[in-house]
Amino acid sequence: MAQTVRKAVFPVAGLGTRFLPATKAIPKEMLPVLDRPLIQYAVEEAKAAGIEHFIFVTGRGKGAMEDHFDRAPELERTLEAAGKTKELKALADLLPDAGSISYTRQQAPLGLGHAVWCAREFIGDEPFAVILPDDMVKSKVPCIKQLVDIHAKTGGNVVGVMDVPRDQTNKYGILDVSEDDGKLAAIKGLVEKPKPEVAPSTLSIIGRYVLLPDVFEHLGRKEKGAGGEIQLTDAMARMIGGKPFHGLRFEGERFDCGSKIGWLAGNIALAFDDPEVSDALKDFIRKRM
Ligand code: UTP
Repeated sequence: MAQTVRKAVFPVAGLGTRFLPATKAIPKEMLPVLDRPLIQYAVEEAKAAGIEHFIFVTGRGKGAMEDHFDRAPELERTLEAAGKTKELKALADLLPDAGSISYTRQQAPLGLGHAVWCAREFIGDEPFAVILPDDMVKSKVPCIKQLVDIHAKTGGNVVGVMDVPRDQTNKYGILDVSEDDGKLAAIKGLVEKPKPEVAPSTLSIIGRYVLLPDVFEHLGRKEKGAGGEIQLTDAMARMIGGKPFHGLRFEGERFDCGSKIGWLAGNIALAFDDPEVSDALKDFIRKRM
């Protein structure tokens, strides 16, 4: 039987250059979508999938995230005195259990693979989830739970995938597939950011993974890949051929909130579902169109 996935890594040390100057002094992961920061959606998704330990790989200037998941006694007292119980509850709900969040620093942004490697001592020898908070997924079943459920059946590595237009393969890790039932694809190769003309498919990895701890051995070699960065895709590629490795076409809508258009679309999608703002927003858009 597959081991339970209890831990999730949140690599949040990137510089967020696509969103400058907004991300100069605040972390990209603290950009709000509707009424909460990206990192909160990611943590809530993990919690809903049964994750018990949340490991943040942060960097310099990322302290706002630690404050976000801590008590704010002065603010809480002020809200209490003003009788703002709804707001107080929203703060209480986002507080993780004491000791369930750990932070480690990636001292330099050497790549996603290196960021994940920085979490190795917290993970130890068990399967774990990786969630990139700037990829927000709106779905009925939390996206990472869909991957965890597949891992429970296969006992192997699982990555969240979606089809992208061929001219965008150079932005993603792309799958070379051996078998595909339309939902689950068995992986025989992985390539990071291939040019459209050489991409083995258009099935691309988004920011959701369930990985076996064997990946740390490969990441530990610190080999540089595409863009001179230590790529998670390259380390994953070295695991193919051992334990099962699948790409899951997850159910849900993914927003790349690290890009302006993805962030805007994510805001609109969530706002359309929010009774507090939905009608007013639709009215505004109608008038603008
Ligand atoms: P991205 O490439 O989307 O993030 O990395 P970025 O580098 O911050 O953004 P841009 O491209 O400059 O706008 C995907 C995820 O990996 C993390 C990022 O924080 C993001 O969550 N990451 C990336 C690290 O933690 N460390 C790195 O060295 C690189």
